[in-house]
Amino acid sequence: MSILFTEKQVAGLTVKNRFVHSGTGESMATDQGAVTDRLIKRYKTLAKGEVGLIVTGYMSVHPLGRATLRQTGIHSDAFLPGLEKLAQGIHDNNGRVLFQLVHAGRQTTSAVIGEKPAGPSATDRDPTYLVKPRMLTHQEIVEIIDAYKKAAIRAMAAGADGIHISAAGGYLINQFLSPFYNQRDDEWGGTTLNRFRLLREIVIAVKEILPSGAPLVVKINTDDQTPRPGIILDEAMEHAKWLVDLGIDGIEVASGNLLYNHMTMWHGEVPTKEIVQGFPTWKKPFAWVASKRMEGQLALQGPWNLPAAQALRPVVGDTPLFLVGGLREVGQMESILEQGHADFIQMCRPFIREPFLVKKIKAGKVTQVACTSCNRCLGAIVNQMPIACYRNGLPATAPSEILRRA
Ligand SMILES: Cc1cc2nc3c(=O)[nH]c(=O)nc-3n(C[C@H](O)[C@H](O)[C@H](O)COP(=O)(O)O)c2cc1C
Ligand code: SF4
Repeated sequence: MSILFTEKQVAGLTVKNRFVHSGTGESMATDQGAVTDRLIKRYKTLAKGEVGLIVTGYMSVHPLGRATLRQTGIHSDAFLPGLEKLAQGIHDNNGRVLFQLVHAGRQTTSAVIGEKPAGPSATDRDPTYLVKPRMLTHQEIVEIIDAYKKAAIRAMAAGADGIHISAAGGYLINQFLSPFYNQRDDEWGGTTLNRFRLLREIVIAVKEILPSGAPLVVKINTDDQTPRPGIILDEAMEHAKWLVDLGIDGIEVASGNLLYNHMTMWHGEVPTKEIVQGFPTWKKPFAWVASKRMEGQLALQGPWNLPAAQALRPVVGDTPLFLVGGLREVGQMESILEQGHADFIQMCRPFIREPFLVKKIKAGKVTQVACTSCNRCLGAIVNQMPIACYRNGLPATAPSEILRRA
């Protein structure tokens, strides 16, 4: 039997095969963040498709930490009934699920959160959202740690099998870890250890409430690729070691940044037309120029985070490694696992195009995924359209009321 279809434990959770659905913002919640039937249907389908473990799209832990409208919220008890139905729908179809918790920090807009976004420091205006953030106070940081804990309590109450924390993707934890975004000189910045403090406190707070055996997996950034130095692999290796010391149950290996060159996070074709379509009129020229500059730079040439996973392996020992980014060939997936470079094959875009991909691979029907990394699905989030494979282009729907007002 192929190693891809062998079981593997993540803490007390038995995962039936080595395929993991990577966090994928669905843009399927209500404008306030409540789960919809459409969202539940998406995850039921993935569970039916025999994905071993599903990591949901990012769920906002705090009202000021929302990244986009139509992002699922977990920052209020009011969301619990929908979140319960979501977990139930996955379990009914023999799937397993980790809820992904995120605070966007500065990586959002005032149109989404109703006020100026805040991050670790009041640094440069970014070229994507054109936001110059304000600096979070100590008290606000403490409140955010508590928000993660409360969100984790809600996730477990809703029936999630465990928690996934994104410390990557340029969101708040990533911002604190990175010397590019974090220029503080208090206890939350200045040294690698101080920059790690937010993540450490969140992990401790979440672990406090997790039932025994329920896994906590953290997605880390191994290379920010920001215009000035951010997180680099050496620093990420320290983060990974500290996370293992804190007793986390898995590490997802990622890289890249959204605000300064979003293509570093996914590689492939630059979907300029689809992304610009969703911007308010006054931002369109900036978005067009910024997007055009990225074209041709980052073609998808295989699993780009593999060298980082190889470097992390000796650091994390037996802690499961989840490799994401550019995994497209079944033979290569097998050999990565056989060589011990990673324990799980994690994919995002391939499952948007083929939710039944795992079943097809099991039946020997495919050796290569069908997704062509055209990245038009990314335009869905910017346009607040439900995630789907839009390889033939996005529908020419007008952006929502709120984006027009931005
Ligand atoms: C449309 C889209 C939405 C995404 N949303 C999330 C998300 O909510 N959380 C997350 O951790 N990563 C998110 N990502 C990043 C993916 O999880 C993954 O790291 C990246 O796409 C590379 O994997 P792939 O080559 O298999 O697509 C998203 C990527 C895409 C294309
Ligand atoms: S639109 Fe479809 S083919 Fe293009 S990247 Fe997204 S899932 Fe893949």
